Amino acid sequence: MENRYRDLVSSIRAIPDYPKPGIVFRDITTLLGDPRAFRRAVDDLVHPYAGTKIDKIAGIEARGFILGGAVAHQLSAGFVPIRKKGKLPHDTVRIAYSLEYGVDEMEMHRDAITPGEKVIVVDDLIATGGTAEAACKLLTQMGADIVAACFVIDLPELGGRKKLEDMGIDVRTLVS
Ligand code: PRP
Ligand code: ADE
Repeated sequence: MENRYRDLVSSIRAIPDYPKPGIVFRDITTLLGDPRAFRRAVDDLVHPYAGTKIDKIAGIEARGFILGGAVAHQLSAGFVPIRKKGKLPHDTVRIAYSLEYGVDEMEMHRDAITPGEKVIVVDDLIATGGTAEAACKLLTQMGADIVAACFVIDLPELGGRKKLEDMGIDVRTLVS
């Protein structure tokens, strides 16, 4: 493993049996609190798209807001929050989904995307891919052109990357 990735991996904390028994939770608060690791993660997420016209970054609540906001700033793109249900004040589209440790519903504002806009989805982690798949479905429903879905962490044994790739979405992850 390259040093840069070893540094990123070691900045992520593993918490056994959170939020449920049997789940090993990958906690990025330690990465976010480490200035070098945070910069590295954002720079590596941005790098493939530098100089490309990206209209919007869609960040998935909650950890996708932190990373996605930084990526949007770097790419001079707008930011679209994809939120857990009941948090957005204007007219929304909603979808139910399941993830590694539960089920939920997410929403985005109906007017957040102009059809044809180039959008990158950002979140901290892809596990089963249920969350990202739902976000991509909402964005596609609103006419977004999804350029890629980007994550710091991939848990490959849970199949999320494949799920998105089977939808025709380009997936980029930094560490497995
Ligand atoms: C985590 C993570 C992803 C999702 C991935 O979010 O940040 O959004 O789970 O899981 P999946 O690939 O199995 O769908 P969580 O729902 O815990 O929300 P949070 O960021 O608000 O803590
Ligand atoms: N989201 C889904 N599975 C997760 C995990 N193992 N760690 C952190 N976030 C997650």
